[in-house]
Formats: sequence, C-alpha cells, structure tokens
Amino acid sequence: MSDKEVHSEEALRGAFQRLFPGEAPRVARAPGRVNLIGEHTDYNGLPVLPMTLAHEVRALFSPRADTRAVLRNLRAEYGPAEFDAAGAPSPSPAGSWDNYVKAGLIGARQYAPGLPPAGLNLLVDATLPAGAGLSSSTALVVVAALAFLDAAGRAPASLRDRLRLASALAEAEHFVGTRGGGMDHAALLLGSAGQACKIDFFPLRVEHAPLPDDCAVVVCDSMVKAEKSGAAREKYNLNPRLCALACALVRRQLREDFGEDVPLERLGDLWFGPLCLTTREAENLFLAAVPEGRLALPEIARLLGLSPEAAARQYLPDVALPPEGVDLHARVTHQAAEYRRVEHARDALIANDPEAFGRLMVASHDSCRDNLGVSCPELDRLVDAALRAGALGARLTGAGFGGATVNLVWRDKTFSFIEEMARACYANHPGPPPVFIAETAPPAGVGELRG
Ligand code: GLA
Repeated sequence: MSDKEVHSEEALRGAFQRLFPGEAPRVARAPGRVNLIGEHTDYNGLPVLPMTLAHEVRALFSPRADTRAVLRNLRAEYGPAEFDAAGAPSPSPAGSWDNYVKAGLIGARQYAPGLPPAGLNLLVDATLPAGAGLSSSTALVVVAALAFLDAAGRAPASLRDRLRLASALAEAEHFVGTRGGGMDHAALLLGSAGQACKIDFFPLRVEHAPLPDDCAVVVCDSMVKAEKSGAAREKYNLNPRLCALACALVRRQLREDFGEDVPLERLGDLWFGPLCLTTREAENLFLAAVPEGRLALPEIARLLGLSPEAAARQYLPDVALPPEGVDLHARVTHQAAEYRRVEHARDALIANDPEAFGRLMVASHDSCRDNLGVSCPELDRLVDAALRAGALGARLTGAGFGGATVNLVWRDKTFSFIEEMARACYANHPGPPPVFIAETAPPAGVGELRG
C-alpha cells in the first residue's frame, strides 16, 4: 500500500540532517495494528484481539537547546508545524497532524510526572497508510511520546512501564477530539512479533495468542479514507456516546433492582466486580434497561429523568442524534455478543481452529454493520467478495466508515485469493491493488537507525 512513498532509512537520515544539521538522530518506531476481532468494545472496557503490523510510523528525533517542538513530515500532505513543548499544548484545528504529537507529549507527561520541558526536532515518516483503520494516528502518538521520553532518559523499560504508558496515552489521545479506547496504544506498545494479542482493559492486561500457521491474514483497503480526527470524528464519537447513554440507563435499572447505587463507570464493568455478571445475565439486564428500537432524544431523556437539553449537555457534548432517533439496544447487543466472540476467538486460536475463528469474524462484521452502523457499502462489498473468494473470515477492521477489511485465508490459497480480490474489487484501481499480507512486528520502541 502506497509503496511509492516509502523512504529508505538512509534517505530518512539524509533528510533529517538537511533539515536539522548537527547531532545524529535517534529513531522511535511504532508498528501499525490490524484488529482481528473485538470492534468498538475497547471504550466500554471490553476486550479486543488485534495483532501488530510490520508497516510502521517512525520518527527521527534529536534534542534542542530551546523548548520548541519542531515537526516535519516526509509526506507532503502533512506540512511543517511547531509548538512550545514547555507549556500545556493547545489544540490545532481538528485533523491537524501535530495534534497527535501534542497528545503524545501530554501522555508522556502523565506517565512521567516532572518530565523536563525539553524541545525536540522530529521528522516523521510512515510505511503505514493513514485513514485505513490500521492505527496510523495512534502510532504517531506513540512515537512522539517515546521520543519525548527517550530524550529525557525516561523511556519505558519494563512491561509495567509499557502498561502504564499505554493507559496514559489512551487517555491523552482524547486531546485530538476522538473518544477512542485503549486498543491501539496497548497493541502498539505491548503486542509482539509472531502472535496476536488479546487485550483487556481497566486494568490493562495483555495475553498473547498464537496465529494459525497454515493461514495468512490479508488486509484489503477500501480506499475510502476514514480520518477519525477529521471528517469521521463525529461518526466515530457517536457510538462511545451512545454506549455511555445506554450505561446510564443500565445504572438506573440497577438502582431500581438493588435499591442502591451500584458502581458502573462503563458497560464492561457489568462483567467484572462487584456484579460479575455472565454474558447471559448482562443481556437480560439490557432487555430490562434499554428499550428496543429507535429512540429520539426526548424519550431517552425521559428515561433518564432529565430534560432533553440536560441529557444532550451531559451525554452528547460533541455529537448530534440523527432526527430519526438511535437504537441503543442494538448497541448493547453488539457489546455482549462481541465480548462473547472475542473470548471464543481467543479459544479458537489456542485450539488452532481457524474455521471457527473465521465464522466469528463474519458475525462480527455483520454486527458492526447492522447494530453499530459503522460499515459502508465499499467495506461490505469487500467482505462479500472475500467470502466468495474463499476467505475463512472477513470483516472491517478498526473504526470503520471506510478504511480496510481484514481477511483470514488458507496460506496455500493466499495468492489466488489476492488475484480474485483484484479482479472482483480493484479492476478499475490505478496501479497495484491495495491489498497486502499482514506480517506481525515487534512492539514500539526507540533505537538507532538501521544501516
Ligand atoms: C478506533 C479506535 C479504537 C477502537 C476502534 C474500534 O481504531 O482508536 O480505540 O475503538 O476504533 O474498535
């Protein structure tokens, strides 16, 4: 994908030295990630199952004598930017790439209180396509944080450090205006080469799971750009906000059932202490607490005992509900069923049962499309074509609204699969089809340039 823009490490070093003559730079790298299953669950504290990607974002950096962060990007579409790294960064307009660097600095400071306010020259390059649902934005947050930390001698050293940094960065990325969860930061900082990882949240924990030897993971780009902090931001934020609304309804129901407040910060808390519900019990609670079908704001507000204005202020600060209303029940149905699918998918990996894994992927895509509304015709077409071309499983990956699909394919059928996808979906695409075999990579880190 977009190989035309891949730069060799030597070219990168040359570019850095032209821009910032002097000290030899170090490099921070973060892989991309492709999520295999567990979509739109992380912000509710429910698990996900991604793997790292060998496509990466890298940032060459050197310390400065002043406190400026001077940012350059080898991709022409991302212009030069600069800010003062000593104070609290203020956001640039939505969609600006420097916001991710600022989020990285904010997260680095949360992780390492007392981080000295030092300036940095930073040159960014990526082999990871942007807007394809492969976590290019979080990769930038991660490399920026690692660069600031490394320059101050505070780079994470232990597994515990990485867990803490991933949690801090997940929170800090809200600075860009997108209410994402913690999947990407954890996958990039705690994923590993050769394996997938199942990630649980609050508290963050990561468990590695084997990928089936006889299968390949193939990524197909829909070429519909879905920039989560740009045009797709409001679309993305709708589901986290609706889940928070549904959670408020569940909280009211629990108060009625138990006669007192039960702590429930997010929907995922239902499965853990103090309630420890089974998925079946959670589904029954959803049936009692969250009416089925479309609800308009006045109706939702009434259920919450609030005025529509107060409900909107409290729960929907950055999204507008569509006039036809929203189906909150469909959202919670997705949460319970996707949780079950992730658990079964991890078991299928351990049992080396790629066919079962593939079936779960298909069910996940169907639910993302029908219950969450995060698919689009181009993604659905890719999934249908992939299943016709013999994929064991196919689904959208990442936020949706465009971006890519992930496909599980028997290894010995990979090339015929790619050929068939090229014929069915990319006949009019200029150049090679935007399809690649996903390879895993080591987690993000800092080091010297290669070669
Ligand atoms: C984006 C977010 C993640 C996650 C996915 C959907 O990639 O950054 O936190 O919510 O969407 O699963």
